Amino acid sequence: MNSITFIILIITIFITYVETTIISSCTQNKTIALTFDDGPFKHTRELIEYIIKYHDVKVSFFVVGKFHYPYAVDDESYQYAMKKAHDFGYQIGSQTYTHEIPKDKKKFKESLTKNDDFIEKYTGDRPKYFRAPKENCDKECQSNIEEWGYKLIQWDVDTKDWDLNASGSVERRVQDSVNYLENVFSEERDSYLIRLHDTQNYTVHEIVPWIIEKSGMKEKGYRFVTVAECLGEKKNMYNSGKVYGDDMYVHQVPVVVNGNSTSNINIIDNQQNIKSEGVKNLNSLLSLKYLLSFIVLFFLLR
Ligand SMILES: *[C@@H]1O[C@H](CO)[C@@H](O)[C@H](O)[C@H]1NC(C)=O
Ligand SMILES: *[C@@H]1O[C@H](CO)[C@@H](O)[C@H](O)[C@H]1NC(C)=O
Ligand SMILES: *[C@@H]1O[C@H](CO)[C@@H](O)[C@H](O)[C@H]1NC(C)=O
Ligand SMILES: *[C@@H]1O[C@H](CO)[C@@H](O)[C@H](O)[C@H]1NC(C)=O
Repeated sequence: MNSITFIILIITIFITYVETTIISSCTQNKTIALTFDDGPFKHTRELIEYIIKYHDVKVSFFVVGKFHYPYAVDDESYQYAMKKAHDFGYQIGSQTYTHEIPKDKKKFKESLTKNDDFIEKYTGDRPKYFRAPKENCDKECQSNIEEWGYKLIQWDVDTKDWDLNASGSVERRVQDSVNYLENVFSEERDSYLIRLHDTQNYTVHEIVPWIIEKSGMKEKGYRFVTVAECLGEKKNMYNSGKVYGDDMYVHQVPVVVNGNSTSNINIIDNQQNIKSEGVKNLNSLLSLKYLLSFIVLFFLLR
């Protein structure tokens, strides 16, 4: 093998590595990222009011503007729940505007932009993280997602909480999801990236409380963090590079009285946050990739 061929081989391997765009596991040890798909919906607010009682628990949402009816884009209380989640430092990601990936590239981009506009309108931030609706983002979708600067986040633990039909009853569904989690938690993996749905009442009222209070994972030293944090890039959730909520529990005590929204605190924006290192790193990695593609082409066409 001559040296040019060797270099091309190395470069090709590198590019292939960089192009592995689906992220399905956390990289930080002893982290658990709870992710909620398809909301905000009826139960999202109760979920957030439950989670904020635990100052050491942060979660992530992959939201959709128009999916379950009544649509999030039309319902103030859902939008409020999303804002509250964002302000408490929970991560808001996107799952397209209508929970589907249009085949047409332009329409796909429009769907993402519309959903980002929706998220920004109520939270002030545009998400960098994306989850594929219907579990599937093919090669073409992956390269688009990468080109537009999103991170594609799937999961390594699927509770299948949405699949009521497979279990036959709510009780059975909760039990099936809990049994499955008990099993994977007993393996004490380095980390867990878990998929749930805030569109299910039993997920909010039974599965999540089981995970947080009864699974014993906190006692084993695991931390419940956002996806960005479990990937070691806490400041890369949004285009702004901002992180929220870290000071909140120090300066203010959230008060929730019977879910009365008028008793909510004013949430401050943590202004100390500066633009993230992660954003820069990602961009330089991407431009490096195009540069390397050029070099390969140059040698191949020479
Ligand atoms: C994670 O932590 C465990 C136990 O503390 C250790 O055995 C393991 O090697 C660590 N893994 C990584 C990837 O750091
Ligand atoms: C619901 O579950 C039953 C039994 O598991 C199965 O035969 C049926 O096809 C399922 N229906 C749907 C709509 O998935
Ligand atoms: C959700 O479940 C809780 C507790 O089981 C119950 O009190 C509440 O009425 C349910 N909400 C809806 C909308 O079904
Ligand atoms: C909500 O709070 C307002 C103002 O503090 C109060 O007037 C109202 O009665 C409360 N509603 C409920 C349902 O607690």
